[in-house]
Amino acid sequence: MDSILVRGGKPLSGQIPIAGAKNACLALMPATLLSDEPLTLTNAPRLSDIKTMSTLLQSLGAEVSSLQGGKVIAMSSHSLNGDRADYDIVRKMRASNLVLGPLLARLGEAVVSLPGGCAIGARPMDIHIDALTALGAEIELKDGYLHAKTSGGLKGGRVALRFASVGATENTLMVATLAKGTTVIENAAREPEIVDLAECLTKMGARIEGAGESRIEIEGVDSLHGATHSVVTDRIELGTFMLAPVIAGGEVECLGGRLGLVSAFAEKLAEAGVEITETAAGLKVRRNGEIPRAVDVVTEVYPGFPTDLQAQMMAMLCTARGTSVLEERIFENRFMHAPELVRMGADIEVHGGTATVRGVDRLRGAPVMATDLRASVSLILAGLAAEGETRVNRVYHLDRGYEFIEQKLGAVGADIERVREE
Ligand code: UD1
Repeated sequence: MDSILVRGGKPLSGQIPIAGAKNACLALMPATLLSDEPLTLTNAPRLSDIKTMSTLLQSLGAEVSSLQGGKVIAMSSHSLNGDRADYDIVRKMRASNLVLGPLLARLGEAVVSLPGGCAIGARPMDIHIDALTALGAEIELKDGYLHAKTSGGLKGGRVALRFASVGATENTLMVATLAKGTTVIENAAREPEIVDLAECLTKMGARIEGAGESRIEIEGVDSLHGATHSVVTDRIELGTFMLAPVIAGGEVECLGGRLGLVSAFAEKLAEAGVEITETAAGLKVRRNGEIPRAVDVVTEVYPGFPTDLQAQMMAMLCTARGTSVLEERIFENRFMHAPELVRMGADIEVHGGTATVRGVDRLRGAPVMATDLRASVSLILAGLAAEGETRVNRVYHLDRGYEFIEQKLGAVGADIERVREE
């Protein structure tokens, strides 16, 4: 399995282009199942998760072509030949569960394996099931698969989510576009990826109001048509690369970045003493010689501090001045990077969902193990500041979420390379 070698201590300087959002793209792609006309996505990220979703859609009979080196995805679902999302695909990526709603809406039935994905907690499907049931689906669990069907057709209704789940909001939104009558989603997730999905569905003819707020109202239509949509900027990739110069020193301009996508995160960086400037092309981040200050972080649903940036923030706080407390409130098992950072000389204590990080003067390179997607990148970030060589093993998770990471960091002066192993 490939590993990444980072030799730390090089200040960074230059520009990093930020890709389209993985999580938006993974919700937009299943939207093709809702229509028999083509859906084309531009500004798509080049990631293995996107390939996994393409394979899944193809297994259902959709045509999926990757154009312009993967930046454009052209899809058509005029004839579907399957309603079953197999365990072999779904176990690789939890977002496969986003075909459940569209398949149900288009075909009246769907069989979807319970998902796998990152090992960061239980991640059940109860909120999805309750929401789709409220719209007329009958769902049972058999042999590890969710069997969903609708005998009387899907009908709009009131769906109050017990927690603002991103995936459940997306599945419900997609089903509601084709359900009869009006659906109201209460306590909907408000992430920019939800807004992006709603914009694309609206281009396809859906009638949606309130995406980005906690109450979304959808008026069902008879059918959706084709559309072309550009995927929103990846706020997690943006936040990750914003941290690179804070950790390594120097100045980096993240092209395509906007403060509005990362407000809570940017506020924490500012509190730590980091300079962030909005430019015509993106966001410029500079560490002005000073060591960043410790800050406390609590992960929350959007617009709060994103759980997907918690590991990277922890990597930065390892060498900040003072003691930081990080509280993880979204996933119950999301500190697997902490023991790896400790191997690099960090001082971190984890108790349940809380990690206390005491800033140390320096980290030292070490062989470390990537355990999930964001943990992997946090170890690379830590490696940028560490003395000597850090080898991040088992990086397949990294390729799920970061395109050309060695090239992007290498272009701004990082000493980083991939070691390929057969
Ligand atoms: C999405 C993101 C992921 C991010 C997460 C939280 C995608 C493809 N992935 O994942 O990167 O970390 O949002 O911002 O967009 N839960 C339940 N029952 C359910 C559904 C969720 O208990 O039916 C729990 C989960 O176990 C978890 C929490 O709710 O603790 C958040 O999950 P959710 O918002 O659904 O995350 P995902 O959509 O899976």
